[in-house]
Amino acid sequence: MNAVLSHNLLADLNAPSWVQHPRLLAWVKETAALTQPDRIEWCDGSQEEYDRLCNLMVESGTLRRLNPSKRPNSYLAWSDPSDVARVEDRTFICSEKEDDAGPTNNWTDPAVMRETLNGLFAGCMRGRTLYVIPFSMGPLGSPIAHIGVELSDSPYVVVNMRLMTRMGKKVYDVLGRDGEFVPCVHSVGKPLEAGVADVAWPCNDTKYIVHFPEKREIWSFGSGYGGNALLGKKCLALRIASTMGFDQGWLAEHMLILGVTTPEGKKLHLAAAFPSACGKTNFSMMIPPESLSGWKVTTVGDDIAWIKPGTDGRLHAINPEAGYFGVAPGTNEKTNFNCMASLRENVIFTNVALTDEGDVWWEGMGQEPEHCIDWQGKDWTPGCGRKAAHPNARFTVAAVQNPVIDPEWDNPQGVPIDAFIFGGRRSSTVPLVTEARSWLEGVYMAATMGSETTAAAAGEQGVVRRDPFAMLPFCGYNMSSYFAHWLDMGSKLSATGARLPSVFCVNWFQTDTDGQFIWPGFGENMRVLKWMIERIAGEAKGEDNLFGITPRYEDITWDGLDFDAEKYRSITGIDQAAWRTELALHAELFEKLKQRLPSELSALHARLQTRLNA
Ligand code: OXD
Ligand code: MN
Repeated sequence: MNAVLSHNLLADLNAPSWVQHPRLLAWVKETAALTQPDRIEWCDGSQEEYDRLCNLMVESGTLRRLNPSKRPNSYLAWSDPSDVARVEDRTFICSEKEDDAGPTNNWTDPAVMRETLNGLFAGCMRGRTLYVIPFSMGPLGSPIAHIGVELSDSPYVVVNMRLMTRMGKKVYDVLGRDGEFVPCVHSVGKPLEAGVADVAWPCNDTKYIVHFPEKREIWSFGSGYGGNALLGKKCLALRIASTMGFDQGWLAEHMLILGVTTPEGKKLHLAAAFPSACGKTNFSMMIPPESLSGWKVTTVGDDIAWIKPGTDGRLHAINPEAGYFGVAPGTNEKTNFNCMASLRENVIFTNVALTDEGDVWWEGMGQEPEHCIDWQGKDWTPGCGRKAAHPNARFTVAAVQNPVIDPEWDNPQGVPIDAFIFGGRRSSTVPLVTEARSWLEGVYMAATMGSETTAAAAGEQGVVRRDPFAMLPFCGYNMSSYFAHWLDMGSKLSATGARLPSVFCVNWFQTDTDGQFIWPGFGENMRVLKWMIERIAGEAKGEDNLFGITPRYEDITWDGLDFDAEKYRSITGIDQAAWRTELALHAELFEKLKQRLPSELSALHARLQTRLNA
């Protein structure tokens, strides 16, 4: 439904009858008055709307339709080369008090930021359409779900949001006349002046991704890419939701959720936090090796978990998303067969290469083409010295296309969590797997996680940075308060007498002197999962190491894999010198976070130091 607006504005928004929410209507009107779009379109989430907008973007050059006989109903977008990843240095948490954002977030006084945004958004949608995009994070009506409404001038955002969230008209049934929603305003920041032709990927060199945690509001300017623009994902489901969780006694986490079924038919659920581009999608769709027949892995979610205590005293998790926005390079039939199967049709690809047959290709997909067009629209041949796909190239696809989707993935009550796994990308020091001996030890492990940076965020790659709980770019409040919240959740849950989830720390990424990964990873990670599950059942053994319990060589099932004890020791041992440095880095992190740091964590650090020196 379109409403053509005059520029001196907006007597009538011409909203459809299914929008009956005065506060929402007033906000749309106010935002349109500020941003001055030519048109407002109220998205209903239908297939017709999706197809129409994709056609529109094919005409405008934003999308290319892929060869329907190779990749039915699928499209390829190439972004502006300056707009290819999340911009962490342009991401702001504008809480009333600076200390509430804490030392790991960029903070600006909210009043000052509002002035900046008012200036940037004034007239920024001129010549464009303002799309009203209602979405639910989590199954519609779930007690764990929340609703957002994004106002965006990007049709690319609309179609991606339809794949990534429960988006459309039905959201208004849940909202009714006065339901709560998180307002999200997004603009690519490139008004279309009369007579000036549009570009395929409009964006602006000035970028702001802004959160007002107390007001639960999001404003994003200047980028059309991924987490900068699809505001349900990192902005709402992590930064704003983590703040809600802190206030309301639940957790919003950068975690995949998987179901594991044992050969005896027992089903467990694990939630695992890894920094961006560390193989979360692969892990969540893992195929166990043939030698571990009878074990099955199913996907509840691949990136984000919302976790609430249930009436049974256990933690229950939902995946707030309904689609995957995954990293394409490196994905192939061997590394992630189920993911490749999910991508056979109905996909939007961004920044991968276009083959001469009209299909997509990326580094690590398999057989190199003799020629293709790279993500910047240039001819590409093997050995030309450029990557065909951008390292952070992505696919967007609905979760239901995953052949191993968990039958409970859409359950409004969520799934009970048996264990948490925390893992970073570390080429040395951190052992393959360690189980925390207590909730505190688990929180310490997660809080001190480090990881080598990847292309998912703009900036230098491959440097180790501390990434507590894989939440460094996503925690919407003071990181030390977040640690305290985790400790507090543990105490409250144990007070109910319920068994707390076990906590494990993993590192799949140790390398040898030639820089090759030592652990084979992928499906072989099932061997580690099996040990964890047996530990949870009280069946498996392990031995104490510096900061927890590690399986001995004989505690892991090796059938079908040639991996000798010496290699195993090289990725599970504690290197005293490396751990001296590691503990010094933990101390550095704690120094940075000292203002609100729970004293239990520094006390545990001191105990580890003593143990290492003994
Ligand atoms: C993502 C990320 O896109 O973590 O999931 O960067
Ligand atoms: Mn992520």
